Amino acid sequence: MIKAKYPIEKFSKIETPFYYYDLEVLRKTLEEINIQSKKSDFHVHYAMKANVNPSVLAAIKDAGLGADCVSGGEVQAAIDAGISPSKVVFAGVGKADWEINLGLDNDIFCFNVESIPELEVINELAAAKNKVAKVALRINPNVSAHTHHYITTGLSENKFGINMSELDQVVDLFPTLSNVKLIGIHFHIGSQITDLTSFQGLCVRVNELQEYFQSRNVVLEHINVGGGLGINYEHPNHFPIPDFDAYFKVFRDHLQLLPNQTLHFELGRAVVAQCGSLISKVLYVKQGSSKKFAILDAGFTDLIRPALYQAYHHIENLSSDLAVEPYDVVGPICESSDTFAKGFELNQTKRGDLIALRSAGAYGEIMASQYNLRKLPKAYTSDELLA
Ligand code: LLP
Repeated sequence: MIKAKYPIEKFSKIETPFYYYDLEVLRKTLEEINIQSKKSDFHVHYAMKANVNPSVLAAIKDAGLGADCVSGGEVQAAIDAGISPSKVVFAGVGKADWEINLGLDNDIFCFNVESIPELEVINELAAAKNKVAKVALRINPNVSAHTHHYITTGLSENKFGINMSELDQVVDLFPTLSNVKLIGIHFHIGSQITDLTSFQGLCVRVNELQEYFQSRNVVLEHINVGGGLGINYEHPNHFPIPDFDAYFKVFRDHLQLLPNQTLHFELGRAVVAQCGSLISKVLYVKQGSSKKFAILDAGFTDLIRPALYQAYHHIENLSSDLAVEPYDVVGPICESSDTFAKGFELNQTKRGDLIALRSAGAYGEIMASQYNLRKLPKAYTSDELLA
């Protein structure tokens, strides 16, 4: 197994645990996204929920991506990072009035509307400002993403979006609402999707819906197919950059855009996951009755994905080349779910070894908590540490 290149000397002087972002990996990923998406003039909005580290956001902004936001906080963070409001989309089932007003004040590209009551409130708030809000309907396409049920969003049982059975009612409503303009439709079927046929299924559904909207004489300026492209958590060193070529090709081959329509994406994980690692130290190696525990100073407060979704993160011992042995790699939190991996084959370890939990750039730092009154992890970038 190849190990990633880390500034280990520098690491040993920093208090652990901390996040480390390799901006070289991020920039190469962004370059690839631009090469592949520009083949068809696709528009990519970065899903801010994955990571809002300022250096990460700066690289994303420099690459020219827009932003996909799900809260007023994210809308503000995108604008503060210098992303043009004209590239900001705003989704979410529960947008508060102040959040809608923030979007209106900044003339964002589009609100992705998730229900009829929300549409009525946007209309009302826009009227109070004498504005016309651009909206897209988030439609629940009832397409399975074949991923973990916690991160499946496009089934009719999920809380997201407007059901297809309500579409007639929504389309009938628009002529009565003079402060919203319907400009698009939006979908998001789930996250960490590695089987691209799920996206093919989405394309089929979008094509059907295009016919429906045409039959209702509704002109859609854009289609937004959301995010969800998965990454390779097992082999981050071999597959540091997702296959964006294959991903965009699915849409190029299967989605029928009408003349003058643009296609938009909201990628989060695929952009930032592989550039990030959670760096931790082994506090103790403890011999249990039947197994060995490597007890880290990082816990699920720093990286909750294994505890919450039974997610796999590759683990590397940066301080040892000794033969591998199976360890249960655990954190210090007072809950049994605070386990990063069971029986993980780690190079033989001892107190003080530096450990990297890989592919932690997405939904890592941003989901950290202070449970057990722990400190929030700090973050460093390759630009800072390799300077
Ligand atoms: N667009 C919408 C409307 C979304 O809800 C999401 C993610 C995305 C885009 C970005 O999806 P991505 O490209 O990152 O798959 N915390 C979970 C993931 C939750 C994703 C929620 N929605 C995890 O750690 O796996």
